[in-house]
Amino acid sequence: MNETIFNKGVDITHALLSLKISPGDRVVDATCGNGHDTLFLARAVGQAGRVYAFDVQSRAIEQTQARLAQHGLSERVELIQAGHESLDQYVPRPVRAMVFNLGYLPGSDKRRVTQKATTVMAAQKGLALLAPGGIIMIVIYAGHSEGALEKKALHEFSAGLSQQEYNVFVIDLINQANNPPVVLGIEKVK
Ligand SMILES: C[S@@+](CC[C@H](N)C(=O)[O-])C[C@H]1O[C@@H](n2cnc3c(N)ncnc32)[C@H](O)[C@@H]1O
Repeated sequence: MNETIFNKGVDITHALLSLKISPGDRVVDATCGNGHDTLFLARAVGQAGRVYAFDVQSRAIEQTQARLAQHGLSERVELIQAGHESLDQYVPRPVRAMVFNLGYLPGSDKRRVTQKATTVMAAQKGLALLAPGGIIMIVIYAGHSEGALEKKALHEFSAGLSQQEYNVFVIDLINQANNPPVVLGIEKVK
């Protein structure tokens, strides 16, 4: 296989999620934005699976809806215009995988950015919904001020998780310029 995986946070995330997601699974996109991750998840769960996709902005929900419709995959996805910090009100247990792509919607209002308190709260709630063997993948952009705060808060939160219950890892692209994203993963053991 000549394809590279480790040049982009999103590619790393999709490659690892591919190892975890099977047809029929229930999964979550915590920040659907332009719908790229939602489309990936909709393909991965197949016809019998279900994707719950969240975003606070109507523009993001519309963009994701359009992308899914273009690929004939709308039926597999529940689009929810709400903050991911309330995901426990919408998503039943068990969840196989969850993805967060933090920051702001490209080409949109940069003030509508994910925030450390709600991001950590959503990750906590997400862990409670995960099936054993399930995974949360978070792509963090620490090059802007709120992103740096999110990175610190997420590291503190996840480093404190019980080793018996979770495997926590970080992928840092250490030879790349311009603050490349950091990928944080939390796999549930039991
Ligand atoms: C980097 S974009 C996501 C990109 C997207 N995953 C894709 O594939 O195109 C981050 C998104 O998070 C959304 N967001 C910000 N705060 C949020 C919250 N509390 N809950 C859910 N989404 C939120 C923003 O509106 C923005 O669309």
